[in-house]
Amino acid sequence: FPKHYNLKHKVKKYFPENIIDIFLQLGNTAKKLNMKIYLVGGIVRDIILGRKNLDIDILVEGDAIKLAYEFAKENGFVFHKFEEFMTAQIKTKDNIKLDFATARKEIYEYPGAYPKVEKATLREDLFRRDFTINTLAIDITEENFGILLDYFYGYQDIRNKKIRVLHELSFIEDPIRIFRALRFAGRFGFKLGSHTEKLLKVAIQQNFIKVAPEGRINLELNLTFNEENVIEILFLMDEYKLLNHLIKYFVLNDFRKKVLEKIRDNILYFELIFNKKADKSIIYLLGLLYHLPLEIATEFLEKYYFEKAFKSFEEFYYLKDKINENLKNSEIYEYIKGITLETKIFLISYLPENLSKRILDILNKEKEKFITGKDLISLGLKPSPKFSKIQTEIFKKYLDNEIKDKKQALEYIKQKFL
Ligand code: CTP
Repeated sequence: FPKHYNLKHKVKKYFPENIIDIFLQLGNTAKKLNMKIYLVGGIVRDIILGRKNLDIDILVEGDAIKLAYEFAKENGFVFHKFEEFMTAQIKTKDNIKLDFATARKEIYEYPGAYPKVEKATLREDLFRRDFTINTLAIDITEENFGILLDYFYGYQDIRNKKIRVLHELSFIEDPIRIFRALRFAGRFGFKLGSHTEKLLKVAIQQNFIKVAPEGRINLELNLTFNEENVIEILFLMDEYKLLNHLIKYFVLNDFRKKVLEKIRDNILYFELIFNKKADKSIIYLLGLLYHLPLEIATEFLEKYYFEKAFKSFEEFYYLKDKINENLKNSEIYEYIKGITLETKIFLISYLPENLSKRILDILNKEKEKFITGKDLISLGLKPSPKFSKIQTEIFKKYLDNEIKDKKQALEYIKQKFL
């Protein structure tokens, strides 16, 4: 039997009223169909932790597709079904998405495979999951609304900040859980339970990840790079030697750790100051791989389907020895003006402080739009393709401090181009 806890108040506070109403209505439909419904998995964990989560997963003891279909029909909601997985999704008129899954067992045909599914009870469904913190269910039918069902001590583990697997074979059954364990640990600041830690170490040492499909590893890495605590997670992945098993010749020293931390700060800086969102994965991949020869780095990118990073890698490997102290600002500008945002952010994170500052200064000046087309027209020049050449020439002189302000710039243009 599961332990019960009453979380009614917490659940009511967590969701806006329109979502609570949907749960209650859904409960009525489920009752008519003689089915039971629960919130499960990540959302329950996050309700307890008081963290935001928009993925509403509803587990149905019965038939998820049938329930979702009936409910969508009654209310005129958008409905999609995925027969093969016994799941369905609906979208309400307020654009609330609900994912429905039939309580099921998962059968892995070989370690790391995408699982095959079969109908099962709530407990069986929860038992197939990765960690106890993800095995909690909350009843959302009217009479039991907000009752937490805990079969595997997950509630206690959340409170004790522990990541624990449910059984010995968990990491073998699905080696992707190695990544997930460290991702959750880093995200929540949780520790691995001591037995789970042993199992994880063995799983890494025995190189179980080699049987996981590369596409799933790609997904995990992308998720990691987009976590707020990405640095903590990467350091854990290093500490447990997961990165060593993943990347040939990988070594993370103190300098490289600093680079990773600077990447995080610079991504934020670029969002804030330049209002530009970069592809975080590409920059962190640069941070992890830049110390390796380009062939080794490229081999990794190809193996794990990170072709999107090729361009930035080529740019960085070409530029890394070219940008140095002795260049004029205008020369640095020539090198960096056409490169991807990701390479820019990485360069600024990797280069020594004084060079990074100079690049940031160049980018800030570029953003100013020192001399515009309008300026040239107001001086009496006719619009032509020559404009951008003039603008670049003036901007470079501005960068090198040969032209100090706009007045001098306009004077220079008058002398030279009128
Ligand atoms: N799950 C699992 N093994 C995996 C992936 C997922 O057991 N390799 C289970 C977990 O118990 C999880 C549920 O499936 O709670 C849903 O997966 P997902 O949406 O990835 O997990 P969340 O816990 O919601 O993670 P996140 O907060 O990152 O969305």
